[in-house]
Amino acid sequence: MPGLPLDRFRARFPILGRRVYVNSCSQGALSTDVETALTAFTESWHAGGSPWEQWVEEVERLRTLVAATIGAEADEVAIMPSASVAIAAIATALPFDRSRHKVVLGEFEFPTMAHAWLAQAPRGAEVAWARPTGDALLPDAYAAVVDDRTRVVPVTHVCFRNGYRLDIPRIVALCHERGAYVFLDDYQHTGTAPLDVHALDVDFMVTGALKYLLGPSGVAFLYVRRSIIGKLTPLVTGWFGRANPFAFAPDRLDWSTSAKRFEGGTPPVPNAYAAAAGLQLLHAVGLDTIERQVRLLMNRFTAGACARGLPLVTPADAARRGPLAVVRAANAADLVQRLERRGIIASARGNGLRISFHAYNSEQDVDAVLDALEADHD
Ligand SMILES: Cc1ncc(COP(=O)(O)O)c(C=O)c1O
Repeated sequence: MPGLPLDRFRARFPILGRRVYVNSCSQGALSTDVETALTAFTESWHAGGSPWEQWVEEVERLRTLVAATIGAEADEVAIMPSASVAIAAIATALPFDRSRHKVVLGEFEFPTMAHAWLAQAPRGAEVAWARPTGDALLPDAYAAVVDDRTRVVPVTHVCFRNGYRLDIPRIVALCHERGAYVFLDDYQHTGTAPLDVHALDVDFMVTGALKYLLGPSGVAFLYVRRSIIGKLTPLVTGWFGRANPFAFAPDRLDWSTSAKRFEGGTPPVPNAYAAAAGLQLLHAVGLDTIERQVRLLMNRFTAGACARGLPLVTPADAARRGPLAVVRAANAADLVQRLERRGIIASARGNGLRISFHAYNSEQDVDAVLDALEADHD
């Protein structure tokens, strides 16, 4: 049940007592809840030696929690080791025949999303690019390239590089009108606001635990629309993709009828314990509350940055912003190090300093970053 107050949520993250942590776009902060879950895993290992039933149950509990977080059913969710593997599972399952062989990619994609599709060239895939207008990537850029030969449009919800939030409903509508699938990369968004993949009407969605979902690396989540699952068989598979992995039948490639068919080998059990604890903690606060807090912090930061004349590349329009603000900096990597010396943890991509907010951040955090940036520019 939601209702955990934000100050008590914040208190669950020891690092926030020592640092101004504004780098959730790279890695979420470690909570005592997630730490306890990791200990529960090691204790179960000590106690039972090989309690596989308990471990598989924990993975299923995680699947149910993920489904509840993204508005899907549990059988539409695959538990994967990384977003890259999840994307590759779908990329290798889609046909690229003469009638539909185009993949339309926006220039705001995370590299892995492009690489997975570029790697399908030997199977007939041809990548076409939707080009940005300045720091924005508009639905019109997709409308100019998506056509009746387009198989799939992978699209990031929030750009990892400049924090721009794409207009997903409009992009989905235009892609579907032209018969193309939409594959949402929600990694820079899930955990900062409610999400409903059914209402958004995307065909595929990938996200992972380690950023705003407050979990560790080594576990990611793939959603596949129920009506498509049975039509797709990936070219990389393993025993956990089978209808019944525990039949141990090497001579039968019987595909699971659920999204589990996109899974491979033994699931990442320690990561599943930790990821489930992260998700539970988010639900204890409530994703509506989290969204309000993240918006408040982003608004305060962008207004403060403008007032101080900091060169923000993230849009002024709040509807086009995610949880990530980016400030242009000649040498952003050096700036990250200078901020670290002041106790502020941020990150850099190219000439952009990335400042990202989760609901555990406070208005004091925002002001501390603004003050440090103003002082640094002097
Ligand atoms: C938007 C986005 N997609 C995908 C990834 C890559 O995920 P993975 O390393 O799990 O393949 C990242 C990682 O930073 C990301 O920001």
